[in-house]
Order: sequence, then C-alpha cells, then structure tokens
Amino acid sequence: MPNTKEFDNTVNIGIESSPLDLPVITGTYDEKGIDISKLLAKTGHVTLDIGFKNTGSTTSTITYIDGDKGVLEHRGYRIEDLASEASFLEVCFLLLKEHLPKRAELDEFVGSVQDYITPPAGIKAILDAMPDDTHPMGMLSAIFASLSGFYPESLDSWTSEEVRWRTIYRLLGHMPGICAYIHRRKANLEYIDPNPSLGYVENFLYMMSGKVDPVVADALDTLLILHADHEQNCSASTVRFVGSSQVNLFASISAGNSALWGPLHGGANQAVLEMLEAIKNDGGDTDKYLDKAKDKNDPFRLMGFGHRVYKNHDPRAKVIKRYADVVLDKLEVEDPVLSIAKGLERAALNDPYFSDRKLFPNVDFYSGIIYRALGIPVDMFTVMFALGRLPGWIAQWKEMREGNEPIGRPRQIYTGHDTRPYIPIGDR
Ligand code: SDX
Repeated sequence: MPNTKEFDNTVNIGIESSPLDLPVITGTYDEKGIDISKLLAKTGHVTLDIGFKNTGSTTSTITYIDGDKGVLEHRGYRIEDLASEASFLEVCFLLLKEHLPKRAELDEFVGSVQDYITPPAGIKAILDAMPDDTHPMGMLSAIFASLSGFYPESLDSWTSEEVRWRTIYRLLGHMPGICAYIHRRKANLEYIDPNPSLGYVENFLYMMSGKVDPVVADALDTLLILHADHEQNCSASTVRFVGSSQVNLFASISAGNSALWGPLHGGANQAVLEMLEAIKNDGGDTDKYLDKAKDKNDPFRLMGFGHRVYKNHDPRAKVIKRYADVVLDKLEVEDPVLSIAKGLERAALNDPYFSDRKLFPNVDFYSGIIYRALGIPVDMFTVMFALGRLPGWIAQWKEMREGNEPIGRPRQIYTGHDTRPYIPIGDR
C-alpha cells in the first residue's frame, strides 16, 4: 500500500518508489480532500472504495454535515433554526437561489411555484392504468419520467436556463398534487383537484383528504424542511450522476426517486413503522429485536438506526422526536408504537453493540409515527420523504449542471477470467 505524508497543501505518496505530490483541497470547515484527478495518468493506479465510504464525488456549497458533532446546515443556516423559523418554500428558495429571500423575493418564488399546482390531467390516466398493487414510489418514479412527455421543452433543461427554471417550478408546483393523486389512486378514492386559494402544504393536505387541519399543516411543513437536502446521499448522488449524462431534469429526478425507495435509504421510514408494529404485535419485546439486529446470522437490521455519516445523533431525528410528542398531543392521538420506539432507542443507546458502532436514530426513526398520526398511510411514507427531498435533488442537479461537471464514469479493478479461446457449443 502507498505510504502517505501530508506536506502543506499536498500529500506525498510513494508508489513503487516513485514519489508523487497530490494536491489537498480544504473545505469551509477545514475538511481535507486529496485530489486524485491526476493519479491514474501519473501512476497507472486507480483507487478502489466500494460504496464510496472514503471518496468525495464533488465539491458543493449546498449542505454541510458534521457527522461526529451531529451538525446539519443548509448554505450556512442550522437545520434547527430553519425547522423552527422558516417555511418549507423559504427553504426551497434558499437551496435553489443560495440566500434567504426578502419578503418580495419569497412572494415571487411562491407565485411561480403556485402557478403550477395543477398537474397535467394525463397523469390521472397513467395512474389509473397502473396495477392496483404498484407501490406508491414506483408510481412516483414513473410519473416523474412521464413529465418530459407532457413538457417536451424540458429536454432543453440542460441547455436553456429559462427552460431549466420553468422545469424547476413545474416540478415543485406539481409535486404535492402528484403525491396526493398517488394516495387517492392507491386508496381507490376520487381524485381531488387543487384549491389555488390554499398554500403549498395546505393544498397538499386538501388534495389528500378534502380537509386542512392547521396543526397538521404546520407539522408537515416542518417535516418537509427536515427532509429537504442531505448533501451527497444515495438519491442525491444518483440525481447528479444520471444528470451528468446531460439528460433532462425530470429523468434525473425519477432516477433519484428510485434510489430513495430502497429500505436502506428513504424506504426506511416505512420499514421502521412495520418493524415497530411487529414488535407491538409480538408483545412489545424490544430485547428480542435488538438481539436479532445484533445477530450477524440474522439479516434483520434495526430500521431507522445508523447512518453512513452521522456517528452522533442525527439532528433531524432529535427535532422529529420532540415534534412527535407535540403533534400527537395536539391531535390527541395515542400511538403505542411511540413508547415502543422510545424504549427501543433507550435500550439500543445503552447497548455496547450500538454505542460501539456509533449507531443512533436517524431521520427515519420517528418520522413515520408523525406521518401516521397525520393520517398518512404507511406505504406513502417514502413518498412524503420525496416531497421534502425534491428541492434538494433539484439544487444538487442544478449545481452539477452549473459546475459543468463531466459525465460520471468510474473505473474498476477487473478480477475475472484472463483471455481464453471461444469453444463452439458442440465441444463444451
Ligand atoms: C437515510 O446518506 C444519507 O444522508 C441518507 C439520509 C438522507 O437524508 O438522505 O440520511 C436518509 O437514508 C437514513 C438511513 C435510513 N436507513 C436505515 O435506517 C436502515 C438501517 N440502517 C443501516 O442499514 C445502515 O446504518 C446504513 C445503511 C444507514 C448505513 O450503513 P453503512 O454506513 O454502510 O454501515 P455498515 O452497514 O457498514 O454498518 C457498520 C456496522 C456493521 O456491523 P459490523 O460489520 O461492523 O459488525 O454497523 C452495523 C453493521 O452490521 N449496523 C447495524 C445497523 N446499521 C449498521 N446493525 C444493526 N442495525 C442497523 N441499523
């Protein structure tokens, strides 16, 4: 293995006795990255880092996470402040326009989004044509991809800034309606069309159920903020990677949404509720499930626990946990799984298996309990995650586009057969 020594802003590595200085890039909070863009040309070596646990894919100004301290900031603003002070559309503006809006700027942005609150009518026909058992996230990925058919100009969202912004406003404007249509389709209920007199989150709730509870709207607005972006997570990286081929924004978002669907990523919020329900139905024996999670021979994982970056509490989980008590109390909802969740967290945090591995509750651990209290069905939980994450995905795609980043095309280390002669089938 090459040995490395750090000099000033370079790192010197010795590969097969030929020394090489590699530049070191320093981030806003003094994070260090070794720039290996010249490594292959100069040494004939590539790096190997399956799952990119040690590898940065880009530089970004959108979101900062300090996993050891449990810090999350969007363009320098702490998530705790944004969650308690801002509105979701204000955070969308911040992510996309890079500063907190003045009142007039926010009003204009909200107007541009609200211009598109009615999704194309054809979306209902697509949803109606899908099999009843289609998972809501499968419906959402299909609808995202179909939008380029309703808006062919979006194929120029890479080349034209004007088309790009119209495509961004269409995505943000249509999203609540698309998610509500998917819920109504899955519940076999009549679609409810948007009410333009309502705000972004209120209109979503109206299209979901025909009514709007201000407590629910306020809670949901905060939950969406807490999900808005999270730097280079699996789905955001997918959006950037797919987008780097210069495909349109709708297709890139569709790909990112499919990545979010996975139970190790956004699909965990649904898996957490299913896990908590299983524990409840199993007599509430949390120790049995902790033992399963620790058993290497058991594929079961404590869903909603652990994180690739956070090795301390996920700051979002701390806000959501506090919110769970407030929202369930305000709605006078008694949900036994909330106390099961708290008991599970207490037991896990006192168990060396979890504490040694720095496994803490993440954003998905408590969010589902609130979604359920808000009357949202479990199979819609990950769609709710996507509703919150959409502005982050768009901001990541836009940053990749505006950075003129090259198409993503990683290398590999080949470990298969060496060259061998073709054997005609009769001789095999
Ligand atoms: C999200 O990246 C993001 O920012 C994502 C996200 C965002 O906002 O975009 O924050 C949203 O996806 C949150 C994560 C939701 N997923 C889950 O809750 C699923 C359960 N969690 C795990 O599967 C896991 O913790 C991951 C996938 C989140 C992270 O996995 P890593 O970083 O690849 O870590 P790992 O699998 O290598 O685990 C390290 C060790 C292993 O044990 P050892 O081999 O060292 O003995 O910790 C163990 C793992 O077995 N471990 C767990 C565990 N998570 C890790 N053991 C039991 N239960 C768990 N949940």
